[in-house]
Amino acid sequence: MEQQTLRRTHYCGTVRTEDIGATISVCGWAQRSRNLGGLIFIDLRDRTGIVQLAFDEQTPKDVFETAFAVRGEYVLAAKGILRERSSKNPDLPTGDVELAVTEIQILSKAETPPFEIVENSDVNDMLRLKYRYLDLRRPDMQRAILLRHKIGKVARDYYDEQGFYEIETPILTKSTPEGARDYLVPSRVHPGKFYALPQSPQQYKQLLMLAGFDRYMQIVRCFRDEDLRADRQPEFTQIDLEMSFVGVDDVIEVNEGFLKRVFKEILDVDVKTPFPRMPWKEAMERFGSDKPDLRFGFELKDITLLVKDCGFKVFSGPATSGGSVRLINVKGGGAFSRKEIDSLGEFVKTYKAKGLAWLKLSGGQRSSSFAKFLTEDEVDAILAAAEAQDGDLVLVVGDSSNEIVFAALGALRCECARRMNLLDPAEYRFLWVTEFPLLTHSEEENRYVAEHHPFTAPMDEDLPLLEKDPLQVRAKAYDIVLNGTELGGGSIRIHQMELQEKMFSLLGFTEEDAQAQFGHLINAFRYGAPPHGGLAYGLDRLVMLMAGVPAIRDVIAFPKVQNASEPMTACPAAVDDKQLDELSIAVTRKEEDE
Ligand code: AMO
Repeated sequence: MEQQTLRRTHYCGTVRTEDIGATISVCGWAQRSRNLGGLIFIDLRDRTGIVQLAFDEQTPKDVFETAFAVRGEYVLAAKGILRERSSKNPDLPTGDVELAVTEIQILSKAETPPFEIVENSDVNDMLRLKYRYLDLRRPDMQRAILLRHKIGKVARDYYDEQGFYEIETPILTKSTPEGARDYLVPSRVHPGKFYALPQSPQQYKQLLMLAGFDRYMQIVRCFRDEDLRADRQPEFTQIDLEMSFVGVDDVIEVNEGFLKRVFKEILDVDVKTPFPRMPWKEAMERFGSDKPDLRFGFELKDITLLVKDCGFKVFSGPATSGGSVRLINVKGGGAFSRKEIDSLGEFVKTYKAKGLAWLKLSGGQRSSSFAKFLTEDEVDAILAAAEAQDGDLVLVVGDSSNEIVFAALGALRCECARRMNLLDPAEYRFLWVTEFPLLTHSEEENRYVAEHHPFTAPMDEDLPLLEKDPLQVRAKAYDIVLNGTELGGGSIRIHQMELQEKMFSLLGFTEEDAQAQFGHLINAFRYGAPPHGGLAYGLDRLVMLMAGVPAIRDVIAFPKVQNASEPMTACPAAVDDKQLDELSIAVTRKEEDE
């Protein structure tokens, strides 16, 4: 092993035929080495790509011997003269050239890695995450992390040009009872008291508007103790922003500008603005989802009234119990086998649907799970409502709960599209979903809860309903949806103290509770609050969709796994009794170590 004396002149992946004849130096990891007797080739890799190092009879003897000793993942520096390759590799950008090495240094040796460092390797996820530093050496991971960097940079540049200041907000904050569970941090100085890690900088960014900063943005880490999914991590990053003296259209416009810019600069994709907008209610009725994927059809149709008097209980029941019966017509789904349809039946059960009724039209034949319970006319009426033709598959879900019908069919239409390969990751269909309900009712807590958060403003025309019929009130809230993923969400905020207090009381906070939890915000409103609103993107989700990968952990350098642990450092971990003592904490229950 040597001290590095060779000074890098080029990155491996950047050398081209124009450089032929030049003396250059490169550094990196030995991807692989091929020894053909009198000839040795080493592929040297750095973050830009690979260049071939060549050693032959012309190579100084000591250099050749050093090359002979190189194994996979050794770290090298090499100097030589760039020359044309005799056998070119069209798959590599540097495939026309090679470095005829005159000097080489082994800067460090490497043990055999637990998996091969190659593109898209088929390695067990836990192993990848345990050795994340090796996993991150793979070109696809390197690309994703670089993409993330670039997207963040475009965001900073764009919002800066639009007059936004990047302002940091605290990470040690106060726990608030809304939303997901908090991560808590015990205070040593104040025994028995805790900070909470922010679920988002929501209140701080509003206070920054009250402070007169007018436009704020931050690329900021947020923490939520909730169940992990492919598009959820306990710590994740938002591009968070807030603006003063604005309405819904202003926030939407500035953000369409950002999305247009980032897709053009990063992917050279022209996205058409303005994006379509759809009220939440329409999104639910047509797509069974508040984040519809518009890349394919299969829209929901309500057939509750059509089947309310039929002899089939599954179809006639929901009408009398406040539920509904709805269908989707999977165009071309007639090709699904009976077994596949059965597995769709299992699929909807995960959304609490009791079952899936189906009717298939294929090769002029009709087969169905429910036709035998209905009259010919009733079946024809359903087919007409579905606009079904030969080759189609009609899927029906009925339930006394509309939420279950929407959830099951909303997910089913995506599942069918996935199975039919209709989801082109390079097609980008943006949508603003607007007019969300302001409140929902929690059966569990027997009170109203804010659908977005308690600072979201009601729509002006719905204000009179606030007391009479709170569940009918729509909010000045909007989500930006891309290909079925909620990329971001935001709202215009309440900026009058009286309305904010009314909201807290609707949400079941006593005046004392509200003061104790949100006193800082309520008090701040007393001193002149501008109308304001904003939005936050999930940066991880944006990068995931732009990288065309299926999970956000593929675009996070050091992500958590399903059970919120991190296999590489093995956290969370037990701490010394001394540390606990200092924090005045007694542990009452311990996880068994595996
Ligand atoms: P919201 O809770 O909708 O709004 O979050 C905004 C966006 O953050 C992303 N996101 C997540 N990404 C990964 N893992 C998670 N666990 C996770 N949770 C949320 C989503 C989501 O759309 N303060 C408000 C914003 C505002 O009103 O301005 C907020 O946090 O992409």
